[in-house]
Amino acid sequence: MATIDSYDFKGKRAIVRVDFNVPLDENGKITDDTRIRGALPTLKKVLADGGSLVIMSHMGKPKGKVNPKFSLSQIVDAVSEKLGVPVKFAPDCAKAAEAAAALKPGEALMLENLRFYPEEEGKPVGIEKEDPAYEEAKKAMKASQKEFAKTLASYADCYINDAFGTAHRKHASTAVIADYFDAGNKMLGYLMEKEVKAVDNILSDIKRPFTAIMGGSKVSTKIGIIENLMDKVDNLILCGGMTFTFAKAQGGKIGNSICEDDKLQLALDIIAKAKAKGVNLVLGTDCVAADAFSNDANTQICPVNDIPDGWEGMDAGPASRKAFAAAIEGAKTILWNGPAGVFEFDKFAEGSRAIAEAIAKAAKAVNDSKVAKEKADAEAKAKAEQGAAAQQQPQSQTATTGSSIWSGGTYTNGGGSTRVYTNNGGGPYHAPQQQPTYQAPQQPQQPSNNGNGGGQPYIPPTSSCTGPITGSCSTAPGGEVWW
Ligand code: 3PG
Repeated sequence: MATIDSYDFKGKRAIVRVDFNVPLDENGKITDDTRIRGALPTLKKVLADGGSLVIMSHMGKPKGKVNPKFSLSQIVDAVSEKLGVPVKFAPDCAKAAEAAAALKPGEALMLENLRFYPEEEGKPVGIEKEDPAYEEAKKAMKASQKEFAKTLASYADCYINDAFGTAHRKHASTAVIADYFDAGNKMLGYLMEKEVKAVDNILSDIKRPFTAIMGGSKVSTKIGIIENLMDKVDNLILCGGMTFTFAKAQGGKIGNSICEDDKLQLALDIIAKAKAKGVNLVLGTDCVAADAFSNDANTQICPVNDIPDGWEGMDAGPASRKAFAAAIEGAKTILWNGPAGVFEFDKFAEGSRAIAEAIAKAAKAVNDSKVAKEKADAEAKAKAEQGAAAQQQPQSQTATTGSSIWSGGTYTNGGGSTRVYTNNGGGPYHAPQQQPTYQAPQQPQQPSNNGNGGGQPYIPPTSSCTGPITGSCSTAPGGEVWW
């Protein structure tokens, strides 16, 4: 695959999948532009090279139908302003060939919301899974999805995926489209590269304990990553809608909760695998159940395996949140993917919020211990330098122990004996005006460093130090640092 840095976009049209699913207020004004800013380095690189841009994204969940509420036309001005060039708009993403072909180097075009076409997601519309005709409809949709992706691909010479927020979706614009470009003309954008590198770095140097949190509605979409993590994590929290597939698999009564009935065995396999590998698998035990899929629904807290008929689990309950927080507390590596509930509704965002707060707390603890270690290191260094300086002043003093005092031209050692001191040059020693306290050369004094390994901070056996010997706790009682 090509890389964005090495690719020369001069004279090329690039189609870039971004995630501009930004929140809007009731007037269609962007309330958080993080995602737009996140894609700018990629978009600007194409323009700076002398290429042109076809920008595509989804917004919201219009479910395959045109809905002005989710029109990307609402954000064109903001994107133009941030990108520094006027962005043209194609009001139908599947009929933009002409507008794309007309782009000159340095110009940009944004397509209307991809999800106004059901082909983007590839799910048949207007037919329920239970309908016997569903499988046939799904097959037909997969075929037209390919055509849709091919149309999008035809707008450009190369394809860039920089939609990190949508990277878990196997949609026309995020996955299928890639089949229509050869390896030398498709690549990740800077945002995606950055995130992929960050995950790689974390996984290649895991600081333990390592807690992974997988949420979201379906175990089937997470199974790849769950299996991959099973060999690496100490704690694995599985939450969100998939909780109910696990609950049902274990014989639970889950009311109307979301469930993948064809994945019950998979859920049991995951439980067995975690046990075999010694992974602490944390599943929700209680939930906030609602009598409707709505922010105004009536709610009650109930066990995940005993949800009344007509009710559905919508968020993690208080006991689950506590268990999640306990598995996050003290973690030195945390990977979170997917919410713990239907967080789009305020009423059901508490589970996800509890996870976010626990992560913030764990991150602060790691940071605090890093700061404390740096401070201790700096103090130890300063002390060592002071000792070295004191040693250098009287150039030939040879005392090695005791807290001795220079006085006049004589040196009194700890044992009380006194002798005249002369410096290296043989002349009389001139004592400093102020009598300094003699600092004996720093010796590793380790009355109770019970062998934690050379170079490791000594961790005194006191209550205030809880972490493993990783540098998280390096201050001994009394503020001294032992090495
Ligand atoms: C998001 O906001 O999480 C991404 O844009 C993906 O949106 P989706 O969950 O509707 O696919």
